[in-house]
Amino acid sequence: MPLHLPPDDGPPSFHDMLAAAGYRALAAGLRLGVFEALDRPRSAGELAAVLGTDPRGTELLCQALVSFGHLVVADDGYANAADWLTGPYAEVERFWSTVLFESWEGLEESVRTGKPFVDFYAWLAERPETLRRFQGMLSGHADAIAPEVVSVVPVGSSLLDLGGGHAKHAIRLCAAHPALHATVVDLPEAVAVGEAAVAAAGLADRITFRAGDYDSLDLGSDHDVVLLFNVVHGRPPAANEALLARVAAALRPGGAVVLLEHDEHSPDRAADAFARVFGLNLFHGQGGQVYPAGAIASWLASAGFGEPSWHPLRSSPGQSLVVARRG
Ligand SMILES: C[S@@+](CC[C@H](N)C(=O)[O-])C[C@H]1O[C@@H](n2cnc3c(N)ncnc32)[C@H](O)[C@@H]1O
Repeated sequence: MPLHLPPDDGPPSFHDMLAAAGYRALAAGLRLGVFEALDRPRSAGELAAVLGTDPRGTELLCQALVSFGHLVVADDGYANAADWLTGPYAEVERFWSTVLFESWEGLEESVRTGKPFVDFYAWLAERPETLRRFQGMLSGHADAIAPEVVSVVPVGSSLLDLGGGHAKHAIRLCAAHPALHATVVDLPEAVAVGEAAVAAAGLADRITFRAGDYDSLDLGSDHDVVLLFNVVHGRPPAANEALLARVAAALRPGGAVVLLEHDEHSPDRAADAFARVFGLNLFHGQGGQVYPAGAIASWLASAGFGEPSWHPLRSSPGQSLVVARRG
């Protein structure tokens, strides 16, 4: 957050409370359309008229957003302090603020019972805008890491992408390998996003979709490579063991499974803290977590894969590609 305070000017958790309240105020600004409406400096009264909001509430929200460095006071009213507030990254914050302020409502309950408080994907399916933001965020991330993915994934002629949703990984790999055909498996709402991307890329003849549950659909056989990107961290351990056994059965002997996962620990303090709260979020919504490398290696061994190789991503610090070959 742009609010930089000296370390000891309040009670022990005062800065945490401020950060949470400031992030909630930012979310309100994003949801109400404050930043888009500030296409030029406006007074709070003018802004309230554009947004259809209460003038006094709008003034107080703007003052809070100034405190946290998201707005500045210009000669003729409030103005945005940064371009990102009206750019693509604002969608990422709209997504995370919805997760934190809606789905984390029952965090104590999931920690108490050990059961997910919500079914994250059912929760997403009920919120089409949030689902679109989730897939958009992952699609942008796929673009960012594509060169490293293309250099590490050992393709042949048949690729299966489980939970491949937005289809950006299949698109990038098929674009790089003209003989490659891909099948993307995902839930129906995500498949709709991926189909549009594949049509726009002109690859509908080489990338096909299967809408459904990868735990029960027929995954086919003799694939050269199966992608499980950002999948195992969203599932309990036993479900991962079962899915990896199904993946092994869908591969030809010597074929490879490639996982994309967050590293359990990172030397960077912020990345490490993110891995902790991300893991808690996965537990809360899906019964998953950021798993230790040893757990992933042992599931792979049980499913009949050889020793995995780990490829830390320069384009996404704190994440690695994990490649293992079926014996
Ligand atoms: C975290 S996203 C990862 C998307 C993509 N693999 C990536 O890394 O950018 C997990 C994906 O798995 C899909 N998914 C979750 N449960 C599934 C299930 N039971 N069957 C098929 N797809 C599922 C979700 O819809 C989502 O698109």
